[in-house]
Amino acid sequence: MPDISLMDKISSLCKRRGFIFQSSEIYGGLANTWDYGPLGAELKRNVKNLWWKSVVQERMDMVGLDSAILMHPAVWKASGHVDGFTDPLIDCKECKKRFRLDNLKDTPDRDVKECPACKAKIDLRLNPARMFNLMMKTSLGAVEDESAVTYLRPETAQGIFVNFLNILDTTRKKLPFGVAQIGKSFRNEITPGNSTFRTREFEQMEIEYFVRPEEDQKWYEAWINDRFNWYIKCGINKDNLRLRVHEKDELAHYAKACSDIEYNFPFGWSELEGIANRTDFDLRQHEEHSGKELVYFDTAENKKIRPYIIEPSGGVDRATLAFLIDAYHEEKVKEETRVVLKFSKDLAPIKVAVLPLLKNRPQIVGMAKDIAENLMSEIRVVYDDTAAIGKLYRRQDEVGTLFCVTVDVGSLEDNKVTVRDRDTMLQDRVDVSRLKEYLRDRLK
Ligand code: GAP
Repeated sequence: MPDISLMDKISSLCKRRGFIFQSSEIYGGLANTWDYGPLGAELKRNVKNLWWKSVVQERMDMVGLDSAILMHPAVWKASGHVDGFTDPLIDCKECKKRFRLDNLKDTPDRDVKECPACKAKIDLRLNPARMFNLMMKTSLGAVEDESAVTYLRPETAQGIFVNFLNILDTTRKKLPFGVAQIGKSFRNEITPGNSTFRTREFEQMEIEYFVRPEEDQKWYEAWINDRFNWYIKCGINKDNLRLRVHEKDELAHYAKACSDIEYNFPFGWSELEGIANRTDFDLRQHEEHSGKELVYFDTAENKKIRPYIIEPSGGVDRATLAFLIDAYHEEKVKEETRVVLKFSKDLAPIKVAVLPLLKNRPQIVGMAKDIAENLMSEIRVVYDDTAAIGKLYRRQDEVGTLFCVTVDVGSLEDNKVTVRDRDTMLQDRVDVSRLKEYLRDRLK
């Protein structure tokens, strides 16, 4: 059952604690557009770093790329996006709202749907769907004529395809190999919503993995496994993940097969990442439109091969939202509710908070600040003396800080501090001279 109140609680925490803010809030906000606050920016950066580590740093068969958002308009013609990147759109004549066809509710009559907002019945025979292109147009340069028109990319993938020869030439990779890229994409979505789940500006983490055509199924399955397990390794409860294989009639124009990794969001099971077999569609299309031969030369067999492409494509914002939701826990502690974000060690935005027990004792404050400064070069640390210790602990729990280091009166005498663990709330007394090593060990 969808749990909308959970979503409300998480949205309120995100705003209150600085994970996610509405864009342009002081001007009344821009609908469905979000800014990541100080903690959201840390979390999102950690998500991207973990992904990059797993798919580039730890693999010999992968390299990275950072291509431009703006591309030659011919790219989007060749890719099929100008003509075919559309969603069927329905206008409700009663409430005047606009929906994607698949967002309307079914009725016993398959030609009649129900408006999700005002519940009016919509007869598709009288009010058929119109195709709506999702590409965001922009124009380059000072003159706004047709020749200046291009698009903000709707996927990062095309930047990889058009650099296929550059990457082959410079890296000398042998098949199979892949290219990973993280970057912003833009789509004029008809119905954005559910916080950062569906927005018009979002970030993608995409891999284009080039394989011998006869090995496509093997690599398609391998990537599904790899990517599914990555979410578990990063801390998502595996009961909240599932795989959904696309039916033939829902495949994108370029795909031979596709499977979605779905997460059990409070608003229902929804796509986190898709793994598609794009065949040689994209290389063929760009070859045709650019006139450049986009093939791999196999020196052992002395022949040209046009590789097939397996594409694991995930959303940074969706993954970040799923990690936030999955981390959210409420626990009863001494008749009180403790809210704690149980992020994995790598994902936690802040690893250590240094807290003085008494903020009006300059020696305690000085010692706490020295400790924070000493840890800073290695660990993401914050210092906070703006409330009583109980409240400071609750604050840090609520944002998922792994350890709280407290400096008290005794610390001035024995040079020891209290280290409190976020999850167990157990406390260790640690000598300041050993603190860095102790934390290093616990953060491993
Ligand atoms: N290159 C393939 C491609 O773009 P997609 O399924 O359209 O495939 C891949 O997008 C991923 O990008 C999705 O699984 C999702 O995580 C993310 N994504 C797509 N549209 C999005 C949107 N409007 N808002 C946030 N994330 C989005």
